[in-house]
Amino acid sequence: PPVRLGDYQPPDWLVDTVHLDVRLHPTASRIIARLALRPNPEGREGSPIVLDGDELSLKSLALDGVPLAGTAYVVTPTALTLLAPPQRALTLEIETVVNPSANTKLMGLYRSSGTYCTQCEAEGFRRITFFPDRPDVLAVYTTRVEAEREEAPVLLGNGNPVESGAVEGTSRHYAVWHDPWPKPCYLFALVGGRLDRITEDFVTATGKRVALGIYVEPGKTERAGYAMDALKRSMRWDEEVFGCEYDLDVFNIVAVADFNMGAMENKGLNIFNDKYVLASPQTATDADYANIEAIIAHEYFHNWTGNRITCRDWFQLCLKEGLTVFRDQEFSADARSRPVKRISDVRLLKGHQFPEDAGPLAHPVRPDSYREINNFYTATVYEKGAEVVRMLKTLLGDEGFRAGMDLYLDRHDGDAATVEDFLACFADANGVDLTQFALWYAQSGTPQVTVSGRWDEAGRSYRLDVVQTLPPTPGQSEKLPMVIPLAIGLVGPDGADMALTPDDGSNAERGVLLVTQPRQSFVFRDIAERPVPSLNRGFSAPVKLSSDMSTADLLFLARHDSDPFNRFDAAQTIALSHLVEATAAARAGAALPAPDALVAALGATLDDGALDPAFVAQALSIPSETDVAREIGEDVDPDAIHLARTALRRAVSGALAPALEAIYAHHAPSGAYSPDAASAGRRALRNTCLDLLAAGGTAGSLARAQAHFDTADNMTDRFFALSVLAHTAPLAREAALAAFHERFREDPLVVDKWLALQAQIAEPQALERVRGLTHHAAFAWSNPNRVRALIGSFAGLNPTQFHRIDGAGHALVADAVIDIDGRNPQLAARLLAAFKSWRSLEPMRRASAEAALRRVAEKPGLSPDVTDIVGRSLG
Ligand code: ARG
Ligand code: ZN
Repeated sequence: PPVRLGDYQPPDWLVDTVHLDVRLHPTASRIIARLALRPNPEGREGSPIVLDGDELSLKSLALDGVPLAGTAYVVTPTALTLLAPPQRALTLEIETVVNPSANTKLMGLYRSSGTYCTQCEAEGFRRITFFPDRPDVLAVYTTRVEAEREEAPVLLGNGNPVESGAVEGTSRHYAVWHDPWPKPCYLFALVGGRLDRITEDFVTATGKRVALGIYVEPGKTERAGYAMDALKRSMRWDEEVFGCEYDLDVFNIVAVADFNMGAMENKGLNIFNDKYVLASPQTATDADYANIEAIIAHEYFHNWTGNRITCRDWFQLCLKEGLTVFRDQEFSADARSRPVKRISDVRLLKGHQFPEDAGPLAHPVRPDSYREINNFYTATVYEKGAEVVRMLKTLLGDEGFRAGMDLYLDRHDGDAATVEDFLACFADANGVDLTQFALWYAQSGTPQVTVSGRWDEAGRSYRLDVVQTLPPTPGQSEKLPMVIPLAIGLVGPDGADMALTPDDGSNAERGVLLVTQPRQSFVFRDIAERPVPSLNRGFSAPVKLSSDMSTADLLFLARHDSDPFNRFDAAQTIALSHLVEATAAARAGAALPAPDALVAALGATLDDGALDPAFVAQALSIPSETDVAREIGEDVDPDAIHLARTALRRAVSGALAPALEAIYAHHAPSGAYSPDAASAGRRALRNTCLDLLAAGGTAGSLARAQAHFDTADNMTDRFFALSVLAHTAPLAREAALAAFHERFREDPLVVDKWLALQAQIAEPQALERVRGLTHHAAFAWSNPNRVRALIGSFAGLNPTQFHRIDGAGHALVADAVIDIDGRNPQLAARLLAAFKSWRSLEPMRRASAEAALRRVAEKPGLSPDVTDIVGRSLG
């Protein structure tokens, strides 16, 4: 049965302190837990003590030092229950044994390349010891970790180091760690292994010295420098922008090669997928550097938003994740180009979250029921959750937002809080009512906003009529109108923004229309000339906007809008509507010429030397096949989309070749590689030109790509050229792929790029290639990064081949899901979520997707994770 938000009950028993003694052993690690428990005055009186457990072997159990009789407790596969405990403070001593080497779920205590590590969020601590595994039970932890010195010279835990030494008369040693901050068990972590480290000091705003350490596999320390730099910048930024200071003597990060997600914010001991720590110019792309910076910041920022203030229950996941994503987005915006960061964040949102919201897996930012919480670490909770926080800031202004955050950090420090608690701080600090705004957390689906504008020449006024609707989504047939902060501008014929004088006393002079009704009109006075409206500036609300704007007006915005996001978006809108029409034509065997307006808009962008190269690179990118599929929405034929998009790229290439060549030449690299944003922006633009030129398919453009590949001195350029060759030059492809593999065969993270690229080739042979690569020495079903690179890229980034009309692509992914589920259910469930838009496919492919899903559903012994995804997908 699902867990429901409305069924929340406070815990019956609280845990004040936890003493753990963990004796690491490859197959039989022994955990002795001493828990100081007491009845919760807020709980039900006379309750048994129910402790969660999963795959634990219980060795002994004592209450206040006295071994418990077998009749006093019951052990099941999921719980240890003390039937009639004394109703007073008491101590439980629990001894369990687990097998970290056999732990292929990568939840709880497991080994990654020999290193012992843990992952406890969301419900992994119960795989280490019996415990009330829920985020509203906060305790102070002391952890003693013991291991063979030879096997694990490094022993780490949460909080501050207390003591360490040899275990007398043995080859073992130990370390004791104490974390003074009460925390839920999902933030527990320990690490034991043979690791190298880099260290640095950080002095906080109030002068406290913090020892920073980043631990990596032996020999890889020189690749950890960028992460360390990002960490220090994150720490400073959080002090300056949110007044959040670090609160322990040490902060450690450990990079491991086997990890289900990106990283984990364990108190004082973040554990990372090594993909988001390790970087060198030879092995990491600019995008990798940017991701590392963002994720280091994200996990660090959790120290306040997540750890000092945690979640009451897992329904409140967005309370920490949406807010922390918003914070890491702002950090990256400050560290790099704000407009470019916004554009890439919105592209991510539209590419991942919008399809989720439009399909069978749609759920609110705060879900109200779940069967498997691990399936709710989604784009909706994270990315849409961040958009909701961003809208709060837009609505309240910078100062009002900061006042709300200050109140939240002050009022709820040490709490396990709710979304209501969070919103109340913003309401109280600003004297506003956020009741209707709270619907953003409760209603799923992407609001559709339709705007039409009319200039009244005689009355010298301009009117915008706004209509909002919210489509039905699973479990929610009726919807209420939302609060939509619609940032707008009226752009005059000279390209400048006109003064906004609203007729109705609304707050629109700030440039933000407050849309709260199903239909609403806004009138502006003193508009002497016909303006072009620039709508939803900066993507102020996560909505689908449609307007009656002409192509000419969009072209005007693409050239003149003072809002960089909308300048970008105007050209995208022109391209997208062309691609929708061209796709329909392609299905009928016809081809449409590229729209002149688009070529003009892109040409103008290329010619504008004042623009940031990184922005131009974004502006030049043609909407992806997934973008087009989403825009079409139903009866989707991926092959037709591919044809239409390929033709458009070819046409743009031909029309703009001289300009593209000039920019390509202009940004030729000078000096050594540096990952900074400005250099990365120049590379992005140059590579975008290379790609567009190659889309023309001329011999010269392919020779250029080959030369770019051969002469590249960094991974960004080398891998970009390799992808251009792989996608557009079948004759040069194999040699380039082989050379790349030969050069980087010892480097798993680079081999992942090689796997991912091959999985994305939009040709029928891709399927056989992917199947073949599953047998390649470089591939391992046990490693999530390898699986995501190969199978995940095929399912998520190769729409024509995943959705092959013969169903073989769907079958391949379904087979992989079934296979992986036996070992790592979380990974399997994530892969299966690639089917999230299956209902929007044309009938043949829809039938094949449904058959694949049904085949998964009928498999006996499926995990709860996959059962949940397949069940909701089939609806
Ligand atoms: N809290 C982590 C983050 O920073 C995500 C960890 C989720 N892990 C899991 N197994 N569900 O986003
Ligand atoms: Zn997070």
